[in-house]
Amino acid sequence: MSSTVTKAVIPVAGLGTRVLPASKAIPKEMMPVVDKPVIQHVIEEAVAAGITDIVLVTRAGKSAIEDHFDSHYELEAELERKGKTAILESVRTIVPSNVTITAVRQNKALGLGHAVLCAAPIIGNCDFAVLLPDMLVNSYGQEEADLSAMVSAYKTSQQGQIMVEPVPMEHVDRYGVVNCNGVDVRPGQSADIAQMVEKPPIDKAPSNLTINGRYILPARIMELLKDTQPGAGGEIQLTDAMAEYLTEGSLQAFHMQGKTYDCGNKVGYLQANVIYGLQNQETAESFKTFIKNLDL
Ligand code: G1P
Repeated sequence: MSSTVTKAVIPVAGLGTRVLPASKAIPKEMMPVVDKPVIQHVIEEAVAAGITDIVLVTRAGKSAIEDHFDSHYELEAELERKGKTAILESVRTIVPSNVTITAVRQNKALGLGHAVLCAAPIIGNCDFAVLLPDMLVNSYGQEEADLSAMVSAYKTSQQGQIMVEPVPMEHVDRYGVVNCNGVDVRPGQSADIAQMVEKPPIDKAPSNLTINGRYILPARIMELLKDTQPGAGGEIQLTDAMAEYLTEGSLQAFHMQGKTYDCGNKVGYLQANVIYGLQNQETAESFKTFIKNLDL
């Protein structure tokens, strides 16, 4: 493993069926949480953790995502002409100039593992991060954001890190689930993973610690993905490649400190808008007043 991680894969080829009809003509990743599309929140999280090369794994009909991170000459010229410097700045600096965003296509919906494998030619022989764009990781008020803390854990341990959080036992069958040999991993800490399984039946789940969509993985995972057979749901699962890796190396579970909001479903998306709205400098005050005065 190399000493740090600068490349990240963000799979954005999903159909967004859980948020239809909103996502019929716009990618679900472009739905706004307060004043930015979900994908921008995710990319800002990656950049803040030191990621400089981002690979979007996309498909036909989702070019709005690439456009969002590209320059928009006409808009910029118009804002400049009108002297709207603050807005101009927010449009121009969506990502810092040292960050590159490239896109590859996933031309068959064969699962998350397959989507990640589509980025292999760009990732090469490097350890890499994966961020699932449905999930917003909110580290508000923490000394260090969870992804940054996970990168630090990776740098120190030189072991792959998988972000996890506990969920009620009755929900474990929706996620990848890890077991750390019964070790009680505290928030902000990492522990070796003994076992992991994708979407286990509730009575077979090895714990209630679930994978929540942030990974730092050894380069070797890309090779293992080439041979990974369809698993849960008939899809090529990233969890299965990681489980295979455990037979030859080790991975750690990083227990997050913050909160996640799954914007791939309606309630999670609404919750994200409430929480981010209350944390946003521009909207917090009046939004809080509005919520306080709700006659529920
Ligand atoms: C994917 C992963 C799963 C993880 C989940 C987090 O599942 O395969 O391990 O727990 O994301 O959201 P999906 O939600 O794509 O079915």
